[in-house]
Amino acid sequence: MTKLIWMSDPHYTQEGRVLGHDPRARLDAAIDHINTHHSDASMCLITGDMVNRGTHEDYAGLRKKLDTLSMPYCPMAGNHDNRTLFKQSFELPETCMQDFIQYTIRTPQGLIVCLDTHKTGSDAGEFCQNRSAWLTKTLRDAGTTPVFLFLHHPPIALGLPMQDTENMENGQAFVDLISGFTCVKYVFMGHVHRPITGTIDHIPFATMRSVLYQAPPPRPEWTWKTFTPSAEAPCIGVIQIVNSSVIMQYDQFCPYETGVLSG
Ligand SMILES: [Fe+2]
Repeated sequence: MTKLIWMSDPHYTQEGRVLGHDPRARLDAAIDHINTHHSDASMCLITGDMVNRGTHEDYAGLRKKLDTLSMPYCPMAGNHDNRTLFKQSFELPETCMQDFIQYTIRTPQGLIVCLDTHKTGSDAGEFCQNRSAWLTKTLRDAGTTPVFLFLHHPPIALGLPMQDTENMENGQAFVDLISGFTCVKYVFMGHVHRPITGTIDHIPFATMRSVLYQAPPPRPEWTWKTFTPSAEAPCIGVIQIVNSSVIMQYDQFCPYETGVLSG
């Protein structure tokens, strides 16, 4: 059995608040929870939007906090990230692409593949020819080894009015690529700040709440002009993989009130 911890969208800032939330307090609570209850996990995967503003100070502060995790962590890029500063801030596996934050990690239960869907200067994501070619080769080479994909931007619309305009551009090509490989067993995605599950073609997927602030369900329909974070508590995912089967628990790591600022 391989046990993984999954957190998403910490939107870390070294100072100030983000949409009425304190990113330091929320990340501290997540790390404390993980170290207290899940130190037996083999790694923590973080599906993007590592920082909110993409400054050197924010990455340095984030790295300092993440280094207190009792397990190795695997950071990924989201639309709020800066790829250059990201690469300067984190040590990435030897399997990482030269120009992107895309890499693999072998586990006894299969291959973890962390993807880079960041598009410079855009809130929408992309998966370009270079990244597609790398993933195609990785999946071919995997053969019958089970593969578990982690990425930031969903390649399909998930029924969220605003964020669905900021999904992966040309997501259908990505869907066509992964659905052609039976080794792909599960897709884990960030970006939407909500827990959603379903299938992409025949492949099961899950999304994750943000460590920081949550997106409301689409009722009533909202836009960034009307957006207000919902008063829902954050959570992490606790993933167990056994013989290609995936079990994922949504695990609330603190009360909603932790790190919520008034005024
Ligand atoms: Fe985010």
